[in-house]
Amino acid sequence: MSRGPGQRPAGDATRGDAAVRPAFGGARVERIAPVDAALRARLLRIWTDVSNTGGWVGFVPPVAQEDVAPALDAALRRVHEGRDWLVVVRAAAAPGGGPPPAWPDDVAGFAFVATNDRLLSEHWRWVLRVQVHPDHQGARLGAVLLDGIGDMAEDAGLEMLHLTVRGGEGLESFYGRAGYHEVARIPGAIRVAPGDDRDQVVLVCRLSERGSPRPS
Ligand SMILES: CC(C)(COP(=O)(O)OP(=O)(O)OC[C@H]1O[C@@H](n2cnc3c(N)ncnc32)[C@H](O)[C@@H]1OP(=O)(O)O)[C@@H](O)C(=O)NCCC(=O)NCCS
Repeated sequence: MSRGPGQRPAGDATRGDAAVRPAFGGARVERIAPVDAALRARLLRIWTDVSNTGGWVGFVPPVAQEDVAPALDAALRRVHEGRDWLVVVRAAAAPGGGPPPAWPDDVAGFAFVATNDRLLSEHWRWVLRVQVHPDHQGARLGAVLLDGIGDMAEDAGLEMLHLTVRGGEGLESFYGRAGYHEVARIPGAIRVAPGDDRDQVVLVCRLSERGSPRPS
């Protein structure tokens, strides 16, 4: 059964230690570990292409896959150690229509859900590096990915998800639709280039409040 962002699934299939969720329009959200070479190559391609088309995922373009690989491998080490989650969204159709490409090229986007490594903070996690390949952007896969992460986190007994975005990009409205609200802003914390400092905006999603109006 397909479902749209914000709707709870009727059931939850599991493949190995990968939670698999059917989603909007046949897209699927999956938590995956371990990551094999083919999937690593796909993730590297996505992260590099997103960076080179102006996405805010840690790099200033232009970047090559060799530039991005150390950050990806560091993140995957944490996934393989069982500390963090890798959550991917798989497209139901190729960009422009037609059947989806074969695995893992149907992986259209991903994010990490990271432990915060702090005592007394086991009830929440960070969401990091949310991205959808430019060929697939605007097809609601980002919304589906955030919604799936929220469902998985809630099922794992977590209460909150935190993430940070660069101010001035309009991304707060994308996250706002998924239940994330600004709780703090650190002026000038991100130096994109000399003379180009941006605010770091801290957003929080209270999982039990997703879909409800923001409390005043
Ligand atoms: C941001 C991103 C993940 C959104 O994914 P997507 O699949 O393109 O977005 P969706 O199609 O699911 O959009 C869902 C809604 O958010 C809105 N939205 C999407 N990207 C947006 C943006 N950059 N700014 C403001 N609103 C945005 C859409 O218009 C849509 O609105 P609607 O519900 O009124 O129709 C994707 O565009 C991306 O990877 N961008 C580059 C990387 C990046 O900047 N990541 C953020 C790191 S903090």
